[in-house]
Amino acid sequence: MPEYATVTYPEADPPDRRFKRIIGNSAALESVLDQVEQVASTDSTVLIEGETGTGKELIAHAIHSSSQRYGRAFIKLNCAAIPLDLLESELFGHEKGAFTGAIAQKIGRFEMADKETLFLDEVGDIPPHCSPNCCAFCKNRSSSG
Ligand SMILES: Nc1ncnc2c1ncn2[C@@H]1O[C@H](COP(=O)(O)OP(=O)(O)OP(=O)(O)O)[C@@H](O)[C@H]1O
Ligand SMILES: [Mg+2]
Repeated sequence: MPEYATVTYPEADPPDRRFKRIIGNSAALESVLDQVEQVASTDSTVLIEGETGTGKELIAHAIHSSSQRYGRAFIKLNCAAIPLDLLESELFGHEKGAFTGAIAQKIGRFEMADKETLFLDEVGDIPPHCSPNCCAFCKNRSSSG
């Protein structure tokens, strides 16, 4: 499997210590952790924004660990590392023979991550015009992207 397509299954925090890895006691962090608990109980898509190194991935893990998907896989896909012309096929899969080089049917990440957590790292790097399917998927998910 190519490096960009690596799927990882990091160990999730057990529910009773799901925020133990997150250091800080500011009002701003408390507000973020409140939001983590709020969205974790839903099936909504969640967009996590923040400066570099501020803990976006840590928060993604916290949401996963606090959700009903705890115990299932946390699948990470680095969108910035995928060549744009392969992105649609990575996300949605393809049928055998769909294009030159499609030698077998392939399951996409969205289908693979059904009932699990799919973390699209650097999702903001995907150009909005990248594919009609990607745009349609984002539009059909209600809460952020
Ligand atoms: N509040 C925090 N408590 C403990 N560790 C933290 C906190 N915030 C960030 N870190 C640590 O800092 C490092 C960077 O965090 P993380 O990868 O989650 O940030 P990020 O926002 O995804 O960064 P990038 O924008 O570079 O992708 C990690 O080692 C993470 O564990
Ligand atoms: Mg990150």
